Amino acid sequence: MKMKAGCSQLNPVLSVFIFNLCFYASCQLTGLQVCKLCSGTSLNATAAVGKFCFVSAGTIDGRCCLRNDNTTDREHIIGLDLSNCSLTHVEDLQDASTALMIDLSHNPIVNISDTTFEGFIEMNYMILPEDIVCPGGNTSWDKVEVKDGTRFCEGQKNICNQTGQLSINCPENSLCAPYGPGLFECSCADNYHGYKCLRKGEFPALQVFGPLGASTVVIAFLLWVTQRRKAKSL
Ligand SMILES: *[C@@H]1O[C@H](CO)[C@@H](O)[C@H](O)[C@H]1NC(C)=O
Ligand SMILES: *[C@@H]1O[C@H](CO)[C@@H](O)[C@H](O)[C@H]1NC(C)=O
Ligand SMILES: *[C@@H]1O[C@H](CO)[C@@H](O)[C@H](O)[C@H]1NC(C)=O
Ligand SMILES: *[C@@H]1O[C@H](CO)[C@@H](O)[C@H](O)[C@H]1NC(C)=O
Ligand SMILES: *[C@@H]1O[C@H](CO)[C@@H](O)[C@H](O)[C@H]1NC(C)=O
Ligand SMILES: *[C@@H]1O[C@H](CO)[C@@H](O)[C@H](O)[C@H]1NC(C)=O
Repeated sequence: MKMKAGCSQLNPVLSVFIFNLCFYASCQLTGLQVCKLCSGTSLNATAAVGKFCFVSAGTIDGRCCLRNDNTTDREHIIGLDLSNCSLTHVEDLQDASTALMIDLSHNPIVNISDTTFEGFIEMNYMILPEDIVCPGGNTSWDKVEVKDGTRFCEGQKNICNQTGQLSINCPENSLCAPYGPGLFECSCADNYHGYKCLRKGEFPALQVFGPLGASTVVIAFLLWVTQRRKAKSL
């Protein structure tokens, strides 16, 4: 934003060019901050995420493995390696919510909040320090293993598709959808809306125009009655 003032004093073509440059640079900075979380070396080709990146034909940027999205042609994070980064807290990783693999091993992490991995529906492999439990608990993963001071969480389970308990939490007329390890969200089924998806019907038209339509009919009727009386009395 500071650059904007400088840009506006130059001729239009040049300033558009510079604006694009500024915009592109700031996009790169904000979009990929999580890749720079670790001041140390870049993604290590011998580590798990590095190997995964190689076989997935991704490109390495800092501690991230990136791949282009087919449809939007925007790069997104498919792997994140923050191992051996002296991290004590893990807070905002939302930029990496598209990641399939995340490595947080060899860090003195004290605590990871339950909400950190909200929306990480693709994440299928996590590597953690031994004393940190897999997000969502053991039941949210196909396989949990502890080896050489490191915990491996493999295969995120679809919480909506487990026979019995949890899917019942979604109210009637709503659908359960995965929302990260151990997390789910309920969305109203077609044609249902409102609190707990209890109302049915086309939403805006009926709600907004209904009362107005009704009062118009009442007024028209009163007018008709009064006019008729006047007409009779003449
Ligand atoms: C890369 O990773 C391997 C195995 O995880 C490790 O032995 C090696 O020291 C790492 N190299 C660097 C430069 O961090
Ligand atoms: C992306 O494109 C490649 C080749 O163009 C194709 O093989 C692949 O199936 C596409 N992936 C998706 C998710 O559409
Ligand atoms: C962690 O990084 C240090 C240097 O930054 C390196 O000497 C050490 O081997 C790394 N440890 C692991 C387990 O990769
Ligand atoms: C971990 O986080 C929870 C809730 O966020 C908190 O109650 C607890 O005290 C924390 N534990 C440590 C060791 O920081
Ligand atoms: C989760 O799985 C790990 C590894 O199999 C095991 O050591 C641990 O006791 C399990 N935790 C719970 C709460 O079941
Ligand atoms: C639910 O699980 C069954 C078997 O475990 C599987 O056949 C089915 O495809 C799953 N459905 C979804 C939507 O994941």
